[in-house]
Amino acid sequence: MVQKPENTLNDLDAKTWVKATKSWFIVNPRSRSREQLGHPAKFPEELVKRFVTYFTKKDGWVFDPFAGVASTLIACREAGRNAVGIELNKEFVTIGTKALVDVDGSGNQTLIQGDANNARELIKEHFNDHLPSFDYVITSPPYWNMLRKSRGGNESVHKQRHENGLKQYYSNSENDLGNIENYEEYIDRVAEILNRLKDLLSEKAYLTVIVQNMRDVDGILKPIAWDLARELSKVYDLRQEMIWCQDNKKLGCWGYPTTYVSNVHHHYCIILQKRDDE
Ligand SMILES: C[S@@+](CC[C@H](N)C(=O)[O-])C[C@H]1O[C@@H](n2cnc3c(N)ncnc32)[C@H](O)[C@@H]1O
Repeated sequence: MVQKPENTLNDLDAKTWVKATKSWFIVNPRSRSREQLGHPAKFPEELVKRFVTYFTKKDGWVFDPFAGVASTLIACREAGRNAVGIELNKEFVTIGTKALVDVDGSGNQTLIQGDANNARELIKEHFNDHLPSFDYVITSPPYWNMLRKSRGGNESVHKQRHENGLKQYYSNSENDLGNIENYEEYIDRVAEILNRLKDLLSEKAYLTVIVQNMRDVDGILKPIAWDLARELSKVYDLRQEMIWCQDNKKLGCWGYPTTYVSNVHHHYCIILQKRDDE
């Protein structure tokens, strides 16, 4: 009898595995709590769950260096994965830590306040010198300094958040990657942080970086996803991109009746893998 090969990646059956490999999918975020709305760019827990159940087994270790209000950690708790997140802004750490308390699930999830540039030191300090080996990274960095720029008309999210008294950007810290003015410097600094995580990862670990290409105020597209993929592929093997679509977002009337301006309702999920040691 031919032996079935062992599933070394996840706990999925063959049918679920194959379904999960389709290169685009729709996830419409569940509604956020009032506290979570305090973060201007949270990603949905359902999205993270989809990826962590594909790229890890139960009790695996997941890392998110730009953890915001702990969406990755919440999803990991629900999915029974251990997780560590780092977030620069104390306010978001407080919101995320509180939200985590009410989540049913299992595993050990920790949100650490600090700069992702110091990820190794922060994690080491938290775990009393014992560094977990991470099986997977899922994260979404700031999309350059786009939160600071209002690019739509009256209906823009930026203006609506302003009117509702909600935060429109992350922080004023000079370590906040969302405050870097120069685009090339932004790409370099995000890539440097993510490339340095290589040593924290277990053999053949995967990474998923969720990001959007963004139209600047002058109408020129900044291809953040493609530029990051190029920089990260200097250290990791670039495996694929997946497209996360939302189909419940309101259409904005941006360029009518003179100019083509797209309603961007998709994000790139760049999939990379730790390269075998050369
Ligand atoms: C796109 S958001 C991530 C949101 C997160 N996925 C969530 O669902 O809550 C990017 C986050 O990176 C944080 N950030 C910016 N620079 C950072 C740095 N140097 N170290 C750690 N976090 C940083 C921002 O405060 C922001 O919360």
